[in-house]
Amino acid sequence: MKLKKADLLYRGKAKDIYKTEDPEIVIVKFRDDITAGDGEKKDNIDKKGYYNSIISAKFFELLEASGIKTQYIKLLEPGMMLSHRLEMIPLEIITRNMAAGSLLRKFPFQEKQELNPPIIQMDYKSDEFHDPMLNDDIAVALELTNRKELEIIRETTLKIDKVIKEFLKEKGIIFPDFKIEYGRNNKEEIVLGDEISPDSCRFWDMKTCEVLDKDLFRKGETGVIKAYSEIASRILDEEDKEKWNITE
Ligand SMILES: Nc1ncnc2c1ncn2[C@@H]1O[C@H](COP(=O)(O)OP(=O)(O)OP(=O)(O)O)[C@@H](O)[C@H]1O
Ligand SMILES: [Mg+2]
Repeated sequence: MKLKKADLLYRGKAKDIYKTEDPEIVIVKFRDDITAGDGEKKDNIDKKGYYNSIISAKFFELLEASGIKTQYIKLLEPGMMLSHRLEMIPLEIITRNMAAGSLLRKFPFQEKQELNPPIIQMDYKSDEFHDPMLNDDIAVALELTNRKELEIIRETTLKIDKVIKEFLKEKGIIFPDFKIEYGRNNKEEIVLGDEISPDSCRFWDMKTCEVLDKDLFRKGETGVIKAYSEIASRILDEEDKEKWNITE
C-alpha cells in the first residue's frame, strides 16, 4: 500500500500517523528511525519498523483478547498498522517490575531489584520540558486528564502488566519495565494507543539475562535487530511467523 504525503497527520521520532478515508481511523507507520537520550542519539536500523509493528500487533491482540481496549484494528502489512484515531493524552505511563534504567539514576534502588507490587510512574510527554516525571495532581492541574481517567489508566496498566508478564514468562522472557500511552476515542473512552515493542519495553532472556531491547542501541552495542527479531520469533505463533516471514 502506498501512503500519500498529503495524508500525513503527524510525524514523530519513530512513527508516522496517516489519515484514511474514515476520520476515526489512521494508519500508524512504524519507521526504521531509532532515537535515544532525549533524541540526541539517532540512527536508522533496517527492518526495525517491520519487527516493531509485528511485535506491537501481537501484544495488542493479546490484550484485546483479555478485554483491554486498544487502538489496534489490523496489520495491513509489516510496518503499517490500521488503528483507531485517538486524542492522545501526553503522558508516558511507565510500569516497573524491576529496577533498571533511569530509576537507578534518580533513586537509590539496587540494579534488578524486584518491585512488587509494580511501580507506576508518569512522565509528561514534552520535548520542550524533556519529559519530566509528574504526579496525579500535576497532570490534573495541567488539564491533561482528570481523576476518573487516571484511575482507569492505573487499573488498565496493572492489568496490561499482568497479562504481558505472564505471557512472556512462558516464552522465557523477563519483563522488567515498559512505557505505554493512552488516548481517548470518539466516545471519550480511554484506549491504549501507540506501540508495545522493544523500543518501549525492556525484555531480558530469563536464563542468561541477555538484553533484547533498545538498551542495546542506548549503550552503543551491536545486534539490535537480532534482538528485535528474537523477540518476534519467540512471541509469534507459527502461522504469523510464516505469514510475516520470520525465521528462527
Ligand atoms: N492511535 C493513535 N492516534 C493518534 N495519535 C497516535 C496514536 N498512537 C500514537 N499516536 C501518537 O503518534 C506519535 C507516534 O509517533 P512517535 O512515537 O514517533 O512519536 P514520539 O517521538 O514518541 O513523540 P512526539 O514526536 O510526539 O514527541 C506520538 O505523538 C503518539 O502519541
Ligand atoms: Mg513514541
